[in-house]
Amino acid sequence: MITVMGATGQVGSKIVRRLSAAGEQVRAVGRNPEALARLAADGAEVVAGDAGDADFLTRAFRGADAVHTLLPYSPTAPDFRAEQARLGEAIVTAIRDSGVRSVVALSSLGADLPDGTGFIAASLYPQEQRLRALDGVDVLFLRPTLFFESIVAAVDLVEAMGVNADVVDPDVAVPMIATRDIAEVAAAALRSRDWTGVAVRELLGPRDLTYTEATRILGAAIGNPDLQYVRLPDEEMIGALVQGGFSPDTAALHVEMGHALSAGAITPHEGRTPATTTPTRFEDVVSTLLPDRQETS
Ligand SMILES: NC(=O)c1ccc[n+]([C@@H]2O[C@H](COP(=O)([O-])OP(=O)(O)OC[C@H]3O[C@@H](n4cnc5c(N)ncnc54)[C@H](OP(=O)(O)O)[C@@H]3O)[C@@H](O)[C@H]2O)c1
Repeated sequence: MITVMGATGQVGSKIVRRLSAAGEQVRAVGRNPEALARLAADGAEVVAGDAGDADFLTRAFRGADAVHTLLPYSPTAPDFRAEQARLGEAIVTAIRDSGVRSVVALSSLGADLPDGTGFIAASLYPQEQRLRALDGVDVLFLRPTLFFESIVAAVDLVEAMGVNADVVDPDVAVPMIATRDIAEVAAAALRSRDWTGVAVRELLGPRDLTYTEATRILGAAIGNPDLQYVRLPDEEMIGALVQGGFSPDTAALHVEMGHALSAGAITPHEGRTPATTTPTRFEDVVSTLLPDRQETS
């Protein structure tokens, strides 16, 4: 049996579907009742609860041959680092107390850097450190780059403003990836458990794209092929994010991550190789990621 945390999310839901289709017994952990019901209909055992509750997670992990973990992203948290630590510590406690021996942990490119990368340094760097300190547990860190969904997430704002906007340099190419490709790698690793100790796998998507190129692809999908990308001053970006529901703390971390991307600070160690390159292109999936057409596979 394999337990999948974040099973109602972008990556986790696709992992569950792949595992169920391969005939694996899956325990899907999430909160959203409708999304959990859909996974149950596909054959998964579903359990609902809070990722900050170590006892709940321990029960969800107990008896699993392998567990997929993720640190749920909390953009409204007044103190993002503290909230991520609360959730991260519960996950690590549950791994220890449940006795699970194989963990595939969804992390991020740049999670090897202790500072200067915004969200990543405030959440996934410390979470990797916590997981590395576990004794007798084989942990595979998946370090994907920016999800295509993160570009599409701005679509409501894009339609309201008539442009796409962020703080990232328009001319710097950044690797971007489809969550279905991350799920493919995660599901295969959860089934094979073919690593020992601590291992890292970087996942970079099919090619690097500038925000200008990614914006054009998004624009074509929403019937606006001339859609422009505009680089905003930090204060304007923070204001727009706060208006959209981010806490001031997380908005500032978003901006710091944007500067790290512009400076080329969030880079792969392995470089682009056949092993780090994944097949799905943004133009292949962009229309399935629009809010009224969310992909599930
Ligand atoms: N977005 C990017 O570009 C990017 C790039 C690299 C790495 N990452 C990392 O990827 C992870 C996010 O993966 P994702 O996009 O697949 O996630 P997602 O779609 O945001 O889904 C989050 C999942 O976690 C669950 N969840 C959230 N808060 C919870 C809580 N308090 N208790 C229990 N469950 C909770 C959600 O359940 P319900 O919906 O049922 O509540 C959902 O299943 C983050 O760690 C992020 O840092 C993201």
